[in-house]
Amino acid sequence: MLVRPINPVFAAEVSDVDLCQPLSDGQRERIENEIQEFGVLVFRRQPITADQQVAFASSFGPLDTGLQTKLLNKVQNRLGHAALSDISNVDASGQVADRQHKQTIMTVGNMYWHSDASYEHHPFRYSILSSQAAASWGGQTQFADLRAAYDNLDERTRDLIRDKEAVFYANYTRDFLGIEDDEAQRQTYPPVRWPMVRTHPGSGRKLIWVDNKVFKVLGMSVPEGRVLVHELLEHIGQREHVYSHTWEAGDVVMWDNRSVLHRGRRFDLNERREMRRVSTVDDSSSLGELSFDELPRRWMAPENAEHAE
Ligand code: OGA
Ligand code: MN
Repeated sequence: MLVRPINPVFAAEVSDVDLCQPLSDGQRERIENEIQEFGVLVFRRQPITADQQVAFASSFGPLDTGLQTKLLNKVQNRLGHAALSDISNVDASGQVADRQHKQTIMTVGNMYWHSDASYEHHPFRYSILSSQAAASWGGQTQFADLRAAYDNLDERTRDLIRDKEAVFYANYTRDFLGIEDDEAQRQTYPPVRWPMVRTHPGSGRKLIWVDNKVFKVLGMSVPEGRVLVHELLEHIGQREHVYSHTWEAGDVVMWDNRSVLHRGRRFDLNERREMRRVSTVDDSSSLGELSFDELPRRWMAPENAEHAE
């Protein structure tokens, strides 16, 4: 197995391994060690089947099935496997879905910086995404290193966030984007509290723990907290902390949700962009769940305004 750093800060390309085959113990350990350091591992020309992708991911821990069973099956279940998330703009019949289709809207919702399942009391550890069809323009996935971003943060802001807690809510970005989810969906995951500075267990490095799901910083007014999070996300997303992956069909990218954020980039929604994802569950947990009463006021579409508080 060969591991070549992609840039001076994080991310590496791994070659000389066949992901269609079961991993040896040595290969499994090597990948686990490398991802602790690099945060993102890119495997090119690995046309794995869905079952092979599930088998590969299972080498790194228990797989999440909650997202698919609690939420995504309500959109469609094209892949028919509780551990596989359909990250595509393809409808259940296999055609490119209409731009209004919930499946397409889901891909748009991935275009803000996030860590998968940061809004869950038990979040994800690794996500493994494979490409079946890539867009001819755009559609990259970008990754940002939260550890490098912490290292480069000014002293005063580090002091400010040192003991702060942020509240993450699953639907915050979707509400902001005007995605009209019903109340049942909005109450699937209660808001959770997380420390804004965490230590990554694999590398022992500190990191800034925020993403676009944060709607409140405890101990600050709502506007002050949101401005701070916005500023931190701008800092995290600066070029020197970012690796942008341009997809080709057959690529597999694995990332550590504990140390990097990611986002999808815009592409022509009339084109087919087809990926599938498997994620493992982390053993960390948030500082606790809040009640739904503490949810932010919804970004109200006029037809929903009558349900406003
Ligand atoms: C994901 C995700 C972004 C993209 O699969 O978790 O956020 O580029 N994907 O499709
Ligand atoms: Mn994601």
